[in-house]
Amino acid sequence: MPETLLEVRAVHRRYGARWALRGVDLQLAAGEIVALVGPNGSGKTTLLKLLAGFLAPHQGTVCLFGLDPARQRAQVMQSARFAFAPPPLYPALTAREHLRHLGRMAGCHSSQALEEALATVGLTERADEAVAGFSFGMQQRLGLALALVPRPRLLVLDEPTDGLDPLAILELRAVLRRLRDEHGVSILLSSHLLVEVDKLVDRLLVLHEGRPLLAGTPRELRAEAAHVWLRADPKPQVQQLLNAAGWSAEASEGGLRLAQDPGLGAVQQLLATQQLSLHEYCQREPSLEQVLLSKLRRERNREAGDAL
Ligand SMILES: Nc1ncnc2c1ncn2[C@@H]1O[C@H](COP(=O)(O)OP(=O)(O)OP(=O)(O)O)[C@@H](O)[C@H]1O
Ligand SMILES: [Mg+2]
Repeated sequence: MPETLLEVRAVHRRYGARWALRGVDLQLAAGEIVALVGPNGSGKTTLLKLLAGFLAPHQGTVCLFGLDPARQRAQVMQSARFAFAPPPLYPALTAREHLRHLGRMAGCHSSQALEEALATVGLTERADEAVAGFSFGMQQRLGLALALVPRPRLLVLDEPTDGLDPLAILELRAVLRRLRDEHGVSILLSSHLLVEVDKLVDRLLVLHEGRPLLAGTPRELRAEAAHVWLRADPKPQVQQLLNAAGWSAEASEGGLRLAQDPGLGAVQQLLATQQLSLHEYCQREPSLEQVLLSKLRRERNREAGDAL
């Protein structure tokens, strides 16, 4: 069994009277890449700040490498590194100077580690320029490089793709994969880019208003939302017939959606008994983005219903 590096249990955290996290659990084992996903204000950054020890939970526990980050921050930082945006930079210093100072503070004097970090984020050529002249995306890249010297066992990134161009996003994915596959770095990141999350991570946790909404591997979440979609006329009559047969049909995108697949033949036979015509029948596996959007929509409708 791989070692558990990070364990969050039943964590609650509020700012004033407003709860930002309400009962969140999360584990990360060595070698995993895990994403935190959720709408603006759902609590992702707050959770990462609890992991970094900037905040302490009001209820529940946070544990990294068996340590409490709020009380044992210096020890935690020997193995875990964090990149929040925007990175804390000094405009007059160059990228290389930033890395040198930070490396020294962290007890890393290896110039090879520093050069590797610059190369990893593609900043070698601009390394001796003052960061005052860096674009937002370049500052983000430097923020990541700063989290890599010395190389951590656990890397925690808050929206690392923010401000990056499409090519840089692609490169970042390759960099994170390489860090995990070749250097054994485990990674927790928050992101709004579900296409990237789907391609990169082993597991994701979706937060909604500080509560866990969905959790699993991208494949599991897509498979759970897989369904059959069909178009047949007249729709209300077809829906009634399918429901009566126990294949609960919901109106969806101009057609009907069945959570289970009874098989094309069975549906054709059923509709033929009433001379109803089937125009389209297909199995659909939605993208991770569609899974999340429809879950959020249902959640918001449910909340609106509760409020009435
Ligand atoms: N310093 C703060 N003071 C007061 N409330 C805060 C503070 N930081 C965050 N909050 C509130 O806590 C909740 C969660 O915020 P958080 O920044 O963790 O969300 P997020 O998921 O990171 O959002 P985003 O996707 O926009 O980055 C929000 O309601 C936010 O308004
Ligand atoms: Mg955030």
